[in-house]
Amino acid sequence: MLAAMAKQVYDLGEVPELGVVPKRMLAQVIREERFGEPEQAFKLEEIDVPELGPRDVLVYVMAAGVNYNNVWAALGIPINVIKARQKAGAAEDFHIGGSDASGVVWKVGSDVTSVKVGDEVVVHCGQWAPDDPLVVAGGDPMFASSEKIWGYETNWGSFAQFAKVQDHQCLPRPKNLTWEDSAAFMLVGATAYRMLHGWAGNEVKSGDVVLIWGGAGGLGSMAIQIATAAGAKPVAVVGDDSKAEYCRKLGAVGVINRKDFTHWGMLPHWKDDAAYTAWARGARSFGKAVWEAVGERKNPAIVFEHPGEATIPTSIFVCDTGGMVVVCAGTTGYNATLDLRYHWMRQKRLQGSHFANDEQAAGITQLVAEGKVDPCLARVFEFNETGACHQLMRNNKHPNGNMAILVNAKTTGLKTLG
Ligand SMILES: NC(=O)c1ccc[n+]([C@@H]2O[C@H](COP(=O)([O-])OP(=O)(O)OC[C@H]3O[C@@H](n4cnc5c(N)ncnc54)[C@H](OP(=O)(O)O)[C@@H]3O)[C@@H](O)[C@H]2O)c1
Repeated sequence: MLAAMAKQVYDLGEVPELGVVPKRMLAQVIREERFGEPEQAFKLEEIDVPELGPRDVLVYVMAAGVNYNNVWAALGIPINVIKARQKAGAAEDFHIGGSDASGVVWKVGSDVTSVKVGDEVVVHCGQWAPDDPLVVAGGDPMFASSEKIWGYETNWGSFAQFAKVQDHQCLPRPKNLTWEDSAAFMLVGATAYRMLHGWAGNEVKSGDVVLIWGGAGGLGSMAIQIATAAGAKPVAVVGDDSKAEYCRKLGAVGVINRKDFTHWGMLPHWKDDAAYTAWARGARSFGKAVWEAVGERKNPAIVFEHPGEATIPTSIFVCDTGGMVVVCAGTTGYNATLDLRYHWMRQKRLQGSHFANDEQAAGITQLVAEGKVDPCLARVFEFNETGACHQLMRNNKHPNGNMAILVNAKTTGLKTLG
């Protein structure tokens, strides 16, 4: 039988025969000369479909999730992802972002055994060298020096008709979900799962108060549900009262509006009595608001942090004795300031956390498949709106929850290829 001949490039949603790979593909591309506001930085281009290594998988992308990391990629800050890759030997002078995908396995490398052509998958964004000594020794691959975030630090993400991923990144797609729902939850969900379940000694448990910044955001909406599924009491923080009901519906026992307080930013110097006293007054009244939200004088066993500089002094202050502030970002800035006197005497933990390993990605996928965590998909965009939806995120004007982009899926609501 003659093998089907591939066209040079297919239109969006024009499905090639299963396993037939065209030479070129459509992609939303960022280039250095366009670095800046996302609306200008992303542009539709035709690019060669990438070659695969022995442990790689080519995924026909049905839908892609939208995350903050490609706002950073578009801006070119805090790092220029293209230059960083070129320094490490990459030839490409462009970036195809996209760190969340749902799709179909279209081709596999010679050593891949865990998935086969035709499998429907969701893709997590943790990549590492298969021969990394730490990985080979069975360590947590998120601690490996070769660890990278696919579709941000690496190229060939999901804002293209085909994405190049590693075999272990592919997980069976929860069949109860549409393509766009499947693409929406993994990056934020698995990150939140590791933050709440991944740090031995401070894992979330039944009855814990968990304070969650940005409760209606991508990470926050996942964290509220993961904490609720564990029997904990999540308290959400929002910047607008209109978001409170959304957080309550996800399981928050109480919601605090951060705009009711003014003590944000770096901690004043401990020798500056007046400024320090004013700050402490603000932090204490925020702590009281947490107790009111919980309905008892109970401090958070876990504070779920990502705003960073603006909020971390308060997070550390309100955290319970022996509790943990777990942080995965510094959206408002990178200087973390704290009063060490209280930190050591009350034996608190400030724990960095970054994405997730295979088991944690499987953990969130199972919670989603069981219906315990909703992907919180708020809005779906067309492929040509890739820049526009990142711009909404950049302007903090995006809807509550998560966003997704249709790539090869022609319409919303589809659960099959056609
Ligand atoms: N390291 C990792 O693995 C990892 C993974 C995922 C995300 N991240 C990072 O985490 C950050 C958040 O991601 P996301 O997807 O949750 O974004 P998101 O959907 O935009 O949510 C962030 C929330 O932060 C809140 N916020 C904004 N300004 C704030 C301020 N000054 N103080 C307190 N809260 C503020 C906003 O809610 P309100 O205005 O309602 O308060 C917003 O909804 C980004 O920087 C992202 O790159 C890191």
